[in-house]
Amino acid sequence: MKYIWLWRFLPLVLLFQHTFALQPNDQNPLSDVAQGSPNPSGDTSSDAPTNERVRYALNVLREAKIPVVTPPGKPSGVLGNTWHYAQEAFRILFMNGPPSSGAARRKMNPSITKAVDALRIAALEDHDPDAMFLLAEMNFYGNFSHPQDFQQAFRWYESLASWDGNSTAQYMLGFMYATGIGGGVERDQAKALLYHTFAAEAGNTKSEMTLAYRHHAGIGTPRNCDEATYYYKQVADKAIEYYRSGPPGGHSMVRESYRWADEEGGVYGEGASVSSSGPNALRDGSGSTEASLEDVLEYLDLMSRKGEVKATFSLGKMHYEGTKGLPKNYKKALKYFKLVTKRYWNKDHSLNPNHPAGIEKLASKAAGHIGLMYLRGEGVEQNFETAYTWFKLGLANGDALCQHQIGLMFLHGYGVQKDAYKASSYFKAAADQDYPAAETRLGALFLDQGDVATATKYFELAARWGWMEAFYYLAELANNGVGRQRHCGLAASYYKMVAEKAEAIHSSFTEANAAYESGDKERAFIPTLMAAEQGYENAQANVAFVLDEQRSLLPLEKVLPGLRKPRPALLRNAALALIHWTRSAKQANIDSLLKMGDYYLSGNGIGIDSEKASTCYHTAAEAHFSAQAYWNLGWMHENGVAVEQDFHMAKRYYDLALETSGEAYLPVKLSLLKLRARSSWNRFTNGKVNSIREDDEPKPRRTFSEWIAAFIENDEEEEANYRAQLHKQGEEDDDDILSSSEHHRLDDHDDGYYDELDLDIEDSILEGLIILSLAATLMVLVYLRQQRNNRQRQNDNQGANAAGQANANNRGFFPRPGDPEFAQWVAGGVGH
Ligand SMILES: *[C@@H]1O[C@H](CO)[C@@H](O)[C@H](O)[C@H]1NC(C)=O
Ligand SMILES: *[C@@H]1O[C@H](CO)[C@@H](O)[C@H](O)[C@H]1NC(C)=O
Repeated sequence: MKYIWLWRFLPLVLLFQHTFALQPNDQNPLSDVAQGSPNPSGDTSSDAPTNERVRYALNVLREAKIPVVTPPGKPSGVLGNTWHYAQEAFRILFMNGPPSSGAARRKMNPSITKAVDALRIAALEDHDPDAMFLLAEMNFYGNFSHPQDFQQAFRWYESLASWDGNSTAQYMLGFMYATGIGGGVERDQAKALLYHTFAAEAGNTKSEMTLAYRHHAGIGTPRNCDEATYYYKQVADKAIEYYRSGPPGGHSMVRESYRWADEEGGVYGEGASVSSSGPNALRDGSGSTEASLEDVLEYLDLMSRKGEVKATFSLGKMHYEGTKGLPKNYKKALKYFKLVTKRYWNKDHSLNPNHPAGIEKLASKAAGHIGLMYLRGEGVEQNFETAYTWFKLGLANGDALCQHQIGLMFLHGYGVQKDAYKASSYFKAAADQDYPAAETRLGALFLDQGDVATATKYFELAARWGWMEAFYYLAELANNGVGRQRHCGLAASYYKMVAEKAEAIHSSFTEANAAYESGDKERAFIPTLMAAEQGYENAQANVAFVLDEQRSLLPLEKVLPGLRKPRPALLRNAALALIHWTRSAKQANIDSLLKMGDYYLSGNGIGIDSEKASTCYHTAAEAHFSAQAYWNLGWMHENGVAVEQDFHMAKRYYDLALETSGEAYLPVKLSLLKLRARSSWNRFTNGKVNSIREDDEPKPRRTFSEWIAAFIENDEEEEANYRAQLHKQGEEDDDDILSSSEHHRLDDHDDGYYDELDLDIEDSILEGLIILSLAATLMVLVYLRQQRNNRQRQNDNQGANAAGQANANNRGFFPRPGDPEFAQWVAGGVGH
């Protein structure tokens, strides 16, 4: 308890210290003021800039017509990149200058120089907070195309924080101390915690969120559930307040955050990453591109024109809710919904006698959505009466949405007489159809009656749907120990879910995503890093993903060091990447866990620690059945990293990888081929390593060309045989062990002569060549097989009905060569 008290006190101490000690420049500001600056009116606080100089600076900037935030516009696409490389090549060949990012950007627009000078004077002499803030932001974000300078930014934020305790500035200081971003200041978790505490006390939501996560996960402070719950509750309260401040039914909570890596099939590429393989492979969204969204829209539109009501309704719903790459469009949504209802009801709302059979459910849903738009005033003027008419129409067919909305109208008296009893009966009807919003309302009504058990039951039902308000009620119940004993951990988790659902009130995912999608990773980095600090797993994975350097099979820049696309200094930070892989892994992201292992294995961002890497892989393999992890363990055994080199064990792990995931087929086959080659070599040269112990194969060995033929023909049979052998091998292992161990003992007496031979083969260049040639061969083979399969499928399809959805479940095996994903995916398996 004393400890917490201390923390609460320290900020105050810090404030004192700051007000007396720190100034951005070495001049003494007080003496400047005393000497009578021309403009002593300075620091009274009101919203418009009061300071003459600040107003002047803003005018200069405005007249120069420099955008506050430069729109993202880096070269993208083939042409842009070609141009970029051409420029770089030219620079390298003919000019021996430093990288382009430095000197060229230093040249500032003269208007900016003028404005900055005015702001500096206003900040230093008049202590104008607006001036300090503007200078800090310009240096931090590069607004008005001011060059970014994190050290300057830090100094200005610091002086602003100490001058008037501005909580925005305190938050920024906390953020800078926590991440050490751009070398603005040395990373210092204790100070970060302090500044965030300070800002949170003043009600800064971002800091509250950050603090909550830090206490929750134990970053820079011991884990403390009570503190975490306290801060998460602050944010959750605001989230719920924001939600309820919306139109009837609450603000819609749009989820903007997503993992950028998933657009490319996960950090290890399509099929090799956990996020895009196994049960996740068919999940919608993963790997879907805008092109495919267009395809979907086009297809639905076609079906809709043909009179397919389902397609029309889907179009309406897509436009109503909006998805990634498709902004909301209420006008279009309304049009489509009305198209549906017209098929079922006449203009006077009487039943259309010759409506298509079986569309009553869909028509009611469409009517419910139209009613909703009138109730909430979305795309149309709000009108409770019209809304009620539409809901009534849908109610006839027992539509849950309509039931719930009518319940809501009676509960709050929207255009009707308030009637809680009627409301609850409508809610009950909708809840019986498992409609989460109604379940939550019903739960709340039961809670009012004091029936905690029934209320909890309904909240838990709604929580299954991820309904934010239900989580909030559950959090409150757990936190206050209503109905059962207080459970801090549960409360913290529930509050965290509520807080993280309200992205709009404390995070800027929209900004980050827009920048990332336009190829400006540097600009995307800062808002994402902020969200990562706030504990979003998605954002943590994104930060690590953007910082991650080792992603391609052919590290081109190693071969042609000059042609390397200059990586912005901001994004060269392996240590920060590792931190975020770790945090993301702790929030149950398995791909990140593997990445963490990779970093420890290669000593990226930290000293090499193969033991830790091995732990990561083992955890991922055993707890989550990750094929990639098995593969990595196989690799470690093959190469004797952190464990004794053992080809036999290596094969075992590779086989497990193969068993775990069909998608891992190609990389594993590659590795097995290589392993066999090495093992044979080892046996041939009487190497020390434990070789693969083959049993007499039950069937005659195939020649290489036969094998290729079989591979192209069909691998099913090949695999079945292979598995049968695996099985047998297990039984026959015993006598094998004796003979080979004797072998080993003999080897031990050699004078290390064969070791040298072994070293030769260890040579990484040779290894790389082997992999590459194998990869090339297999690419050709796979391509041939794919061609064959395609032809066959086409033949099949021509016979059967030619409905165009065949390619929907065509993925998940592995990407076709020629796909851009293919190289990525191979790289995921092989690139170490
Ligand atoms: C911090 O200062 C800036 C500039 O004066 C101002 O715009 C901002 O609202 C302040 N933040 C808070 C939380 O007072
Ligand atoms: C500077 O730019 C960032 C984002 O690029 C923005 O969030 C911030 O509000 C801008 N600051 C000012 C003072 O305009």
